[in-house]
Amino acid sequence: MTETMIAVIGGSGLYEIDGLQGAEWTTVETPWGPPSDQILTGTLDGIKMAFLPRHGRGHVHSPTEVPYRANIDALKRIGATDVISVSACGSFREEMAPGHFVVVDQFIDRTVAREKSFFGTGCVAHVSVAHPTCPRLGDACETAARDAGITVHRGGTYLAMEGPQFSSMAESKLYREVWGCDVIGMTNMPEAKLAREAELCYASIAMVTDFDSWHPEHGSVDITAIIATLQGNSSNGAEMVRRLPALLGAERADCPHGCDRALDYAILTAPE
Ligand code: ADE
Repeated sequence: MTETMIAVIGGSGLYEIDGLQGAEWTTVETPWGPPSDQILTGTLDGIKMAFLPRHGRGHVHSPTEVPYRANIDALKRIGATDVISVSACGSFREEMAPGHFVVVDQFIDRTVAREKSFFGTGCVAHVSVAHPTCPRLGDACETAARDAGITVHRGGTYLAMEGPQFSSMAESKLYREVWGCDVIGMTNMPEAKLAREAELCYASIAMVTDFDSWHPEHGSVDITAIIATLQGNSSNGAEMVRRLPALLGAERADCPHGCDRALDYAILTAPE
């Protein structure tokens, strides 16, 4: 058994963990440079928690500039076992309305300007991301959100775009009608891939803020409206997170889905 440490990567709309005991901001150094910010550590219901603001306090890193490798490495270094990603997203589905949460389970990665792997020169590895999220963590997030009274959709394909501009209507229709995506955002990739390389269980909660630009009855996406939706639901993300420790417990067995053993058969380079 391993001691649980739940790490929350908070995006727009989630900037802290309510009720954290012994809360302390810690500086963590990594070979990939500094993470987005210091990491807030403490306990909730006696269980170790960590919180990393993805865009930094004051929202200083754009989605392209977020140091994804340093963030995941820093969480691994402090002993995180389970990573919960919380982020805002646009919706391609009428039934996934602003204010709802989606427990994302698949991704299409359209990002083009980010470092996506810890491996390369000197050590080559190819991990599987066929199932990029951990169903055990997804179950906990779904239950926590339902118990908090949030409308939550289990499963969904997330289109990760580079940004920072939002999509054109033609792109939005392509992702929705041809590619079958459910939601769109700018931050879950390469975060999910790197978590798998770091052998961390990873779940993503996408908080719907808008209908992107495909919807005939909603205008173009507008950041002011997105922020207004997030502020209107600002307590929801925090309420969900507050329920996670009780659901996940203080100790964890090996992940039944193998997230924590992803490198067992992935490294090609011969040991020295
Ligand atoms: N984040 C929130 N809404 C979004 C959208 N429509 N497209 C990309 N990222 C988003």
